[in-house]
Amino acid sequence: MSSYKIIDHEYDVVVLGAGGSGLRAAVGLSEAGLKTACVSKVFPTRSHTSAAQGGISAALGNMGEDDWRWHMYDTVKGADWLGDQDSIEYLCKEAPAAVLELEKYGVPFSRTEDGKIYQRPFGGMTKNYGNETVQRTCAAADRTGHAILHTLYGQALKHNTEFFIEYFALDLIMKDGACKGLIAWNLNDGTIHRFRSHITIIATGGYGKVYYSATSAHTCTGDGNAMVLRAGLPLQDMEFVQFHPTGIYGHGTLISEGVRGEGGYLVNSKGERFMERYAPKAKDLASRDVVSRSIAVEINEGRGIGKEQDHVHLHIDHLDPKVIEERLPGISEASKLFANVDVTKEPIPVVPTVHYNMGGIPTNYKAEVLTVNGSEKTVPGLMAIGEAACVSVHGANRLGSNSLIDLVVFGRAAAKRAAELVKPGMKHDEIDRSETDRCLDRFDKLRNSQGSNPTSELRLSMQKTMQSKCAVFRSEKTLKEGVDEIRKPFEGMESLSVKDKSLIFNTDLVETLEFDNLIRQAITTMDSAYHRKESRGAHAREDFPKRDDENYMQHTLSWCNGSKTKINYRPVHRSTLTNDVQYFPPQERVY
Ligand code: FUM
Repeated sequence: MSSYKIIDHEYDVVVLGAGGSGLRAAVGLSEAGLKTACVSKVFPTRSHTSAAQGGISAALGNMGEDDWRWHMYDTVKGADWLGDQDSIEYLCKEAPAAVLELEKYGVPFSRTEDGKIYQRPFGGMTKNYGNETVQRTCAAADRTGHAILHTLYGQALKHNTEFFIEYFALDLIMKDGACKGLIAWNLNDGTIHRFRSHITIIATGGYGKVYYSATSAHTCTGDGNAMVLRAGLPLQDMEFVQFHPTGIYGHGTLISEGVRGEGGYLVNSKGERFMERYAPKAKDLASRDVVSRSIAVEINEGRGIGKEQDHVHLHIDHLDPKVIEERLPGISEASKLFANVDVTKEPIPVVPTVHYNMGGIPTNYKAEVLTVNGSEKTVPGLMAIGEAACVSVHGANRLGSNSLIDLVVFGRAAAKRAAELVKPGMKHDEIDRSETDRCLDRFDKLRNSQGSNPTSELRLSMQKTMQSKCAVFRSEKTLKEGVDEIRKPFEGMESLSVKDKSLIFNTDLVETLEFDNLIRQAITTMDSAYHRKESRGAHAREDFPKRDDENYMQHTLSWCNGSKTKINYRPVHRSTLTNDVQYFPPQERVY
């Protein structure tokens, strides 16, 4: 039994994570009169939502005709028919109201001449079921996530959400298959806290840092996903990792798809606008998986740019500088800072870079976490939203600007569902110390490690393996090697070295806890990719180049309890939620 002093808290609902989805949920919960805590390892406005640039999708029709059903069709097609169509219907139908609500909360959207929210074209977004491009992505210049995050934090404070900032969550408290809250470490003073709650909502974002080169912040370590794995529950569709076509070469910083939406285009070393060959209709605005693969082929076939022929160029130097100044100030600054490029005069060197995890904690459209083995049963007391969740609206490939809308639509849905399930001030169950002790034993074991492997070395080994063996293109050979290699950094934890034993802002220990979280997700990602013997969306197998709907129109479920792993499948939902729209049956996916 551990000797830590435990500080207890009781809340109706605890939200873990203070990015866009966590804050939107917190606003709704607090508004509904539920005593709500929001626990976050970073200051809320430093959450990774702030890095989202190009915009938030919603069929508002401010720039010409639009319809949420067209948005739904685009999302189903973008997802390569792995998305659950009931959830996609919910997302697209709710999207316009969710964006107008953000406008009322105070998000400073860019405006059209007549004062409406400005919307730009984005990849894979069309009208009339794929026939013409549409301007559907609502933008606040190229700092949309930043604007939304700051606004939602203000709203959460206004509604009296209680924040626990710089608290690192260690594990869920589970009792008889239900979630009863979580345990967290206060980085500021070293105390341990037990949050008891009727519902715990995981909103911890993605786990991009399993890769070496990612647009993700250092903090994107999928902590909630790993807590779910340690609770014996599965993650879903982990093999679907999105590579954004335009990360700054050598640095990884995001250059928004909004750049191509405003007229930017890609060229290879021969000066060819190569996307015309791969996606004759949509060209540079094809969906992300298609553009990333096209760049990878250009590079692999020797048409890359630079000494190593390992990147391509993105041009916006032909655009009116006024447009760049008004709509793309953030990427202009980032290009200067990280690539020393003046975008009004020179192209930006770019390369596909890990950007988003389509996989995560399986949920239904009400944000309730689904339990094991293909069943649709939910886990009492546990919800997940945002990039941490796999609801699954993005299926095998997410369309740009569908992430921010996912955050607010399902953040709102979670709050609504929680308010149906929990009455303010309901009494809490008794919980014994065993769960707390199990959690703190792991914490202690890591903290007191006296071995010879520094966390940074194990993390680097994991990141390099993921980058080379689970890349844009995959094959039996690379994945088999990956499945073996990715276990080595995990085994390396047996002789882990943590030098700093203190409890106050111990970054050595924080990074170790984050690594323990990352490596479990790296293993499930590699294993899931190895077992999916088809190509679909972002999962491109050179040895199985075709989509196989007969065998693989299924969600992968993966469990990982240390080195022990298990894979199973659950059917994709093939029906809609209401009669307002028909199910879109699988088609060939061309742009
Ligand atoms: O390209 C971008 O601006 C990113 C948007 C997104 O991932 O949704």
